[in-house]
Amino acid sequence: MKNTAPAEKLPAPVHIGIIMDGNGRWAVNRGLVRTQGHLEGLKAAKRITKAASELGVKYITLYAFSTENWKRASEEVDFIMGLIKQYLRSEFDFSKRNHIRVRFTGNMEGLPVDIQKEITETIKQTAEFDGMQVVLAINYGGRDEIIRALKKFIQTAEKKHEDITENDIHRFLDNPDIPDPDLIIRSAGEYRTSNFLLWEGAYSEIYVSQKLWPDWEKSDLETAIENYQKRERRFGAETGNKASGF
Ligand code: IPE
Ligand code: IPE
Ligand code: MG
Repeated sequence: MKNTAPAEKLPAPVHIGIIMDGNGRWAVNRGLVRTQGHLEGLKAAKRITKAASELGVKYITLYAFSTENWKRASEEVDFIMGLIKQYLRSEFDFSKRNHIRVRFTGNMEGLPVDIQKEITETIKQTAEFDGMQVVLAINYGGRDEIIRALKKFIQTAEKKHEDITENDIHRFLDNPDIPDPDLIIRSAGEYRTSNFLLWEGAYSEIYVSQKLWPDWEKSDLETAIENYQKRERRFGAETGNKASGF
């Protein structure tokens, strides 16, 4: 817990990760089926992506489906996959207008083939856009990402195991060129990572909001950013140290 107020405001976060949680509760609270909550959650994802781009955020990672979410009823899983497909198709014009580059993190091979094609196509079509980068975390698990990186490292490794460094793993993560998230936001009040960006989030500031994801507006993102800017990031150094990242 922070016990001294930092002298200066932090610069705005370059990379924000969002655990978009609370769609089911939003629907149940209204006597609706859970899938209705996912539909509203998709609208919120579009609103917040637009807001982040307007606020000058450089990277945003949206946690859309975890490696554990397959445990849900097949109707719900199918509905979410359908929404993801629809999102990828319908957002292309918005991406083009705003120069948004779409990227992916997660276990691609475990996704339905039609979704894989849609993702690959979107990545290709937006590859040259130089505005904000939106990373879609679909069939994503932090542990799975580390295991996949390790497998790739072992395939190419010419090193003795005692010489392995952080960078040997890092360079095989899904998007090694993207800076670690400065801020991880979780909507809907749970205080856990649920397997999101375990490696990259080692020193991310965490902001938990009670608000359910479908209710998120631009002002909520602004509040999260303002809260982040009042923090003191130490990266393990002593209080008052000006250390700022790796
Ligand atoms: C988040 O909302 C969306 C996904 C995990 C796909 P939830 O569906 O988890 O909503 P709650 O947590 O049940 O309210
Ligand atoms: C995390 O939410 C995953 C996504 C938002 C995609 P969950 O609803 O799956 O997390 P738990 O089960 O509450 O930890
Ligand atoms: Mg949830």
